[in-house]
Amino acid sequence: MIAVAIDGPAGAGKSSIARRVASEIGFIYVDTGALYRSIGLHMLRQNIFPGDAQTVKKELEHVDIALEFKNGEQRVILCGEDVSDFIRTSEVSKASSQVSAIPAVREFLLELQKNLAKTHNVIMDGRDIGTVVLPNAQVKLFLTASPEERAKRRHKEMLEKGCKADFSAILQEIRERDDRDANREIAPLVPAEDAVVVDTTGMTIQEVIDKIKEFIAAQTA
Ligand code: DC
Repeated sequence: MIAVAIDGPAGAGKSSIARRVASEIGFIYVDTGALYRSIGLHMLRQNIFPGDAQTVKKELEHVDIALEFKNGEQRVILCGEDVSDFIRTSEVSKASSQVSAIPAVREFLLELQKNLAKTHNVIMDGRDIGTVVLPNAQVKLFLTASPEERAKRRHKEMLEKGCKADFSAILQEIRERDDRDANREIAPLVPAEDAVVVDTTGMTIQEVIDKIKEFIAAQTA
């Protein structure tokens, strides 16, 4: 099995890039952020504060998460319900970042992520894939871009979807999330020592895709 780990901060373009590369080279694309988002959603639905480590940990007993792949698209199944369409709100983004700092949550999701890579060729994106989840991945990339560039991309994406979007609020949300993800005690967002860092500021999606495909081909030849 071949594993490609792609880590990096929110909005660096990991998911759109990883999805496209995976479909072009026939790997499955695993978006691990969706797992944290589903746990965040579950806590919000139960009226549990996502930063309350003890209560969240206890509630995990009632959480059942599975990933399914339909026509190459990942769907997250939370307690039997496909919640994939409910986990992209900014409320859930914040909750996911809060629950992701809780060690019990990371532990809870670890085996599920590792097992996927045992049975499939994967491109897995997240924050700690190259460092913790798949330390033996054949290819490790760390994708990043300046906070302003990431906010600009998200802003454009939201306007294209017809949503209202406030650039400075998006930029602030990105900065807060970066700060929380990079400074937490457990599995903080840092490149693995053997990861190749790709700064995508000023690059088009196609340029990044081409570069990554070249890199994967060279590493797995
Ligand atoms: O990639 P994303 O924005 O969907 O991730 C949502 C949150 O989950 C993010 O704030 C950090 C956390 N996360 C993580 O801690 N580890 C991962 N492997 C993936 C996501």
